[in-house]
This record gives sequence, structure tokens and C-alpha cells, in this order.
Amino acid sequence: MEFDSMTICGLVLAVVICIISLLILYARWNYGFLESLGIPVAEPHFIFGSLFSTRFTPIGYRDVDLMKKYGPLFGVYAGRQPKIYVCDPDILRLIMVKDASFFDAKVALDFGDRFLNEMPDYLSNDKWKIVRGFTSPAFSGAKLRIMNYPMKKSLVEWGTRLKSSINTGGGRLEKCALDDLLFDGLTELTLNCMFSIQDNSGKFPRILKNLATPKALEYPNIKAIASSFPILLKFLPPAQLSPEPAQEFLRIIEDLVASRTAPNSPPDVIDLCIEQLKKINTPEFRKAKMTKETILFQAFNFFFSGQDETALLISAMIYHILTSPAELRIEQKLYEEIDRLWEDLEDNGGDNQFPSREKLAQSDFLQANIYEALRLYPFFTAERVCTKSWFCEKYNFTVPKGMTITAPLWAANRNPEQFENADNFDPERFLPGRKENLHTYALSSFGHGPRNCTGKPLAMEVLRVVCAYIFKNFRFHLRPDSQLIFHPDGPWVFIKHEPIYFDVTLRE
Ligand code: HEM
Ligand SMILES: *[C@@H]1O[C@H](CO)[C@@H](O)[C@H](O)[C@H]1NC(C)=O
Ligand SMILES: *[C@@H]1O[C@H](CO)[C@@H](O)[C@H](O)[C@H]1NC(C)=O
Repeated sequence: MEFDSMTICGLVLAVVICIISLLILYARWNYGFLESLGIPVAEPHFIFGSLFSTRFTPIGYRDVDLMKKYGPLFGVYAGRQPKIYVCDPDILRLIMVKDASFFDAKVALDFGDRFLNEMPDYLSNDKWKIVRGFTSPAFSGAKLRIMNYPMKKSLVEWGTRLKSSINTGGGRLEKCALDDLLFDGLTELTLNCMFSIQDNSGKFPRILKNLATPKALEYPNIKAIASSFPILLKFLPPAQLSPEPAQEFLRIIEDLVASRTAPNSPPDVIDLCIEQLKKINTPEFRKAKMTKETILFQAFNFFFSGQDETALLISAMIYHILTSPAELRIEQKLYEEIDRLWEDLEDNGGDNQFPSREKLAQSDFLQANIYEALRLYPFFTAERVCTKSWFCEKYNFTVPKGMTITAPLWAANRNPEQFENADNFDPERFLPGRKENLHTYALSSFGHGPRNCTGKPLAMEVLRVVCAYIFKNFRFHLRPDSQLIFHPDGPWVFIKHEPIYFDVTLRE
């Protein structure tokens, strides 16, 4: 049989039109579903969902804009996937705490790597329970007390190096990228407190920087389109975190585990891993598919979870303190409180460089500043998946089984119904006398309920100790290039930003 060229053209055209129609149908498949629940919905693009038009806006700002436009609860098509965004603390309480059993699954996230896929945030319930059971106690009060000394020791070593750069610079260190410097110091501190490793060669900060710069970040358009056509992810390099640096850390941990002959005194995270590895053949561990990687990943998680966020929090806090209106006297009040903490250092267990933990816990003004920085710059989102359909009385609709609930933390923490002048840095709102008036679930930076941040007690302790030390020893000066500039999309949940520069001098 013979076809003339017109017929062939016509056939090809028909097939192309058919394929395009199917793709459009596929991308738009869920459209209309959120609308049918009767909640406000962020208007979707013809095929690329609700978030496509803002793919070059930093995620935090984007979520705040959405909340301002659609209110504290609204629907979003993340590509083709419908999600409900919640910034209302009453609903966050129900979903994450009171009715958490209706929302006890997490979105499955494939990091494209066996080791990275053991991230506790995404583990199945059985496995997660075991992991949570042995990781949570690692941050008990008693454990934090033990970590206190190595924490301060690392910090003082870091500070001593900073002081000598200031002296070398004639008393002023100009254009210091404080968050980078803090990142290195916090990495050393974490290694020392939890792994009994002393290393300031720069090797470990490098592993972390590489981990957080996966190749796919170079292709923001393809990444955005992939949320409508997930198959594209198969052709992209890893989009969340880079597997190679994780593997490098895994080998380091394996060596440490293999070479340890007797428990460290006091026991550290390597001892914790060794203890758990012994259970690998128990029926309980087998049933939950607990592997060596599951256990060693938890050590990796302890190693990388805090530094990026803590370094950003502290430098952003200093930036806001220096740019806040002079009549608020934030900087003076902070320095006055810090100096009072250092006045009486007796009964400190032989440690004369620092106030005791108990005394630091009474630093109301410093802690108010920490909370205010945490409010403005949390990790971006916490998510839960609905496992049993649930009626939301306040908004009169039913959350169907399988629906993903997102708590966009930047937006939730700026809910204007909870925080007056929510975009302003105002630490006074967290001072005793005022903070009692806040809704218990208004500040969501560490999540809530059974799946909240395991490392919160450590993160808060590190923030107090590091801030107290740097404000006791250093003074920061605003430069014209001290700016907070966020990138549209970080890897995974990291908040990526340009370095924030300060000039640093010594106090006294
Ligand atoms: C200021 C620093 C930190 C912030 C703002 C932060 C924030 C968060 C948030 C928002 C979540 C999700 C919670 C939820 O879904 O309800 C989380 C989970 C988690 N965080 Fe943190 N985190 C910080 C530091 C740390 C540190 C230092 C560690 C460990 C050393 C850590 C370990 C974890 C773990 C293991 C989870 C998963 C918990 C689970 O699913 O059971 N975090 N964190
Ligand atoms: C709740 O929604 C249902 C239908 O979805 C409607 O019939 C009912 O009137 C609504 N109730 C209120 C109080 O708005
Ligand atoms: C967070 O989790 C811990 C257990 O790791 C639990 O003791 C604590 O009550 C939880 N916090 C909140 C606010 O739900």
C-alpha cells in the first residue's frame, strides 16, 4: 500500500495532537478537586499547577504572599498534586497533635540513594517508631549536660581564631561572611559534642556544602515542570541532596564504628550506633526492615541537621538587630543582659569562661531574640499525609484520605492574626508578660506533635551558648552589603541565601 505525503503528514499531526492532549489531560487530572472541597484555591496555571508562576520567587516569600491572598487555609496544586496549606494554629494543633493519628504518614520522597532514603522524616511508620525511640533520648537533659563542655571548648577555639583574624586586621575584620564562618564553627562543635571528633581541616564543612548543592539546582525550569510530569525526574541529576558526600560520610562513620574497641566515655553517637547495630538481627528490627544504613543515617542526620539553619538564624538576627529602629534599643539591651550573665561566674564547675546552663536559661532578652529569628526564618515546610478521612469543623470541609497537608512555616509564623506587624523583627513579643498571650501553636519552627524536630533541645542549647559567647566577645557593624537575599529554591528544605557580611571588632 502507498501513502501520499499528505496522508502521512495528517497521520503524524493526528498522533502529535493526541499525545499533547493526553499530556494536558494528565497534568490537569486533579484540577477541580480542591475547589470541590469548598476551600479557597491558589489559581493553577493551564498545565503547570499553582506554583509555576512564582518559581523564581524565594519559597518563603511565595508562601507568605499566598497566605495574604487566600487566607490561613487554602488549596495548592503543586504541579499536578493537590495539597492543603495550613497557617492556622488551631488546625495545626488538630492535625499535628490532637488528631495526629489521622495524619500519621509522610510524603514519600525519593532521594535516589539508598543511604539518603533512610532520612527519618520520610520513613514508614514501623521503622520511624524504632528510629525515634533511640534518637530522641540522645537529646535528653542529661545528654545535653554532658555535651555542654565539648560544645564550649569548640566554640572558644573557633572564637580564638576569629579574635586573631581581627587582631591581624588591625582591630577590625572587614567584610566577614558571618554565616559561612559560623557554619564551619558549628560543624566543628557538632563533631566534637556528638562524635568526639576534633577536626578543623575544613573537610567536614566541605562534605556538607557539597551535600547541599545537588546538580539539579542548575535546572530550575525543568524542576518546576517535573512537578507536573514526575517522569522527568528520572532524567534529572539528584534534585534534593547529592549522594556522593553522603556516601563519603557513611564511610567515615563505618570506619569509626569498626575501629572503636571500647565505649567512649561519656558515650557518644558512635556508641549509640554500635548499640543499635547489635539489634539488627532481632525480629523487631527485621520486621521493620532496619538496616545498617538506617542506623548510620541517623548519625549523619545529627551531623548535618543544624548548621545551615543555625548559622542563618544567628546572622539574620544580628542583621535585624543592627537595622532595627534606634529607639527600640535592642542592641544595648542585649549587651547589658549578656554582661550581667557574665558578672558572677562562681560555682561553674571549674569553667570560668561561661555562665552555667541554668543561668543561660534565664537570659530572657537573648532568648526572645532567638525566638524572633526562629519565627522569621524557619525551615520552609512540615508535611503530613492524611490516612483516615477527617472532618475540619472550623472550615466545614472533609480532608480526604491520601491528601497531603503542608504547614508552610514561613507563612504560618507570619500569620497576621497571631502576630502584630508580623513582618517586623520585634523580640519584645517573646518577652515574659507578652509571650504568654501567644497561641501555643503560633510558632511552628520545629513542627509539633509526635513527629516534631528531634533535635530541638540541642538546637536551642547551641543557639543560646553560641549567641551568648559571640555577643560577650564581639561587636558587629553594618556594611552597605549586609543584606538578606534569598534564593528561589534550595535543595530539599534548606533555605539558601547570599552570604551576609559584617565588619567585626572585639568588645572592650
Ligand atoms: C534551629 C535548628 C532546627 C530547626 C529550625 C529544625 C526544624 C525542624 C522541622 C520543622 C522539622 C519537621 C517537624 C515536623 O514535621 O513537625 C524537623 C525534623 C527533624 N529534625 Fe530538626 N530542626 C533544627 C535542628 C535540628 C538538629 C540540630 C537536629 C539533630 C541533631 C534535628 C533533627 C531532626 C530530626 C531527626 C527530624 C525528623 C523528626 C521525625 O520525623 O521524627 N533538627 N526539624
Ligand atoms: C457546610 O457545608 C455543607 C455542604 O458542603 C453545607 O450544606 C452547610 O450549609 C455548610 N455549613 C455551614 C455552617 O456553612
Ligand atoms: C516533641 O517530641 C518530643 C519527643 O521527641 C516530645 O516529648 C514533645 O512533647 C514533642 N513536642 C511537642 C510540642 O509536641
